[in-house]
Amino acid sequence: MTDLDATIDRLVRQIPDWPEPGVTFRDITPLLADAEALAAVVDGLVDLAEGFGPVDAVLGIEARGFIFGPAIALRIGAGFVPVRKPGKLPSASHSTSYDLEYGSASLHMHLDAIVSGSRVLVVDDILATGGTMAAATDLVTQAGGVVAGNLVLIEISELGGAERLAPTGCAALRTY
Ligand code: PRP
Repeated sequence: MTDLDATIDRLVRQIPDWPEPGVTFRDITPLLADAEALAAVVDGLVDLAEGFGPVDAVLGIEARGFIFGPAIALRIGAGFVPVRKPGKLPSASHSTSYDLEYGSASLHMHLDAIVSGSRVLVVDDILATGGTMAAATDLVTQAGGVVAGNLVLIEISELGGAERLAPTGCAALRTY
């Protein structure tokens, strides 16, 4: 186990049975509040992002993809595209429905957010079932973009998200 692994284990707390019975929520707020840990995590994510080759845009998924996505985008010289929950985007948008570990929902992205043919890195905090990331990759495809890679802070491998994102797969800083 690396020092960064230990930092993530220490500062991402598990909340059993939240927001529903049977779901264990991973709360990243203690990690975000720790300046040294936050910098180390962003450094680690940038290293993984650079492994995907050229990236034109980083796409972040509401809400916690909005924390790591722009930090990565600034470091790799890419723009940032927010993918949002329903009712938030003011202009014409692509949309797609998806299943969550708890419930179902839809994601939305402005029609002009991605230039056709551009390489897009999809970023979120957690990969669980992969429904959310798969929905975001669907939005990239709808817009004519190419998914350069999927990237998360934490992957919960037993829920099969990485398989769902094949063949692109998903890089994770910490896998449980
Ligand atoms: C969490 C997490 C991911 C998603 C992962 O978001 O931030 O976006 O679930 O689950 P999946 O791989 O099974 O799709 P949540 O739905 O809690 O939304 P929030 O970030 O707006 O709180």
